[in-house]
Amino acid sequence: MLVKSYISHLFNRKNAYDLHSPYVFEFYNEVLKKAKKHKTTKAEKYRDECLQSKVEIDRNDFGAGSKVLKHKALVKDIARVAGVSSKYGRLLSRIIEFYNFNRALEFGTSVGIGAAFILENDEVVLTSIEGCTETANFSRKGLTKMYGNRVEVLNMTFDDENLPITGKYDFIYIDGNHKKSPTLRYFKMLLNHLSENGLMIFDDIHWSEEMEEAWNIIVEDPIITVSIDIFKFGIVSKRKGQRKEHFILKY
Ligand SMILES: C[S@@+](CC[C@H](N)C(=O)[O-])C[C@H]1O[C@@H](n2cnc3c(N)ncnc32)[C@H](O)[C@@H]1O
Repeated sequence: MLVKSYISHLFNRKNAYDLHSPYVFEFYNEVLKKAKKHKTTKAEKYRDECLQSKVEIDRNDFGAGSKVLKHKALVKDIARVAGVSSKYGRLLSRIIEFYNFNRALEFGTSVGIGAAFILENDEVVLTSIEGCTETANFSRKGLTKMYGNRVEVLNMTFDDENLPITGKYDFIYIDGNHKKSPTLRYFKMLLNHLSENGLMIFDDIHWSEEMEEAWNIIVEDPIITVSIDIFKFGIVSKRKGQRKEHFILKY
């Protein structure tokens, strides 16, 4: 995390009274303000199980790599270091529930914690991509046991030409390979697959200078009309009939 960016975020974020966009006003009040108390019982159970699991995984390091995890790691350590926290998992879940999203795509399954929060809503179907074979096998087994055929975990890299990405997704969560040019490549590649009222979420937008540069380019893209920076996540939409605007909000 870049400290100077966090300080700037603290000074620049807005509250409900400053929000003139009805869409973002609603997002703030109905999604962000309600997310922390949003019930995600099954996902929390899945997360707790991962946080206690002594299964050992032989990891292939993909993407930007981990400064903390070794090549062989226990699921409980991967869950702690790489898995989404309950606070942000609830937000993913609340977004899906509030907008009645149905089709979701995740880049970076890891042990499946983010996926579990996405799948908390019974209406949603998720495709999640994970490059590491043993990690993908672990999450596929656990998630399928809990959520049945609403989830498919594919052991592929994000750059695989044969990725079975088809049609439009309401919810796209990019949480892996936190570097500038891959992030921009995934953004361009997935933009056409984002439904008109859908949301694309980038994790760790202030994790490094590179990620901030990528985020700033995404925000400036003319197709993006609404961009929301809640510090950990960057959230974008290409809704029509909306003046292009950027928002910095507290979560
Ligand atoms: C931060 S973890 C994902 C956490 C998960 N989304 C969650 O919310 O709990 C990132 C994952 O992305 C995978 N990954 C990174 N770069 C990748 C790539 N280029 N292709 C496939 N998988 C990749 C890593 O192996 C790692 O398991």
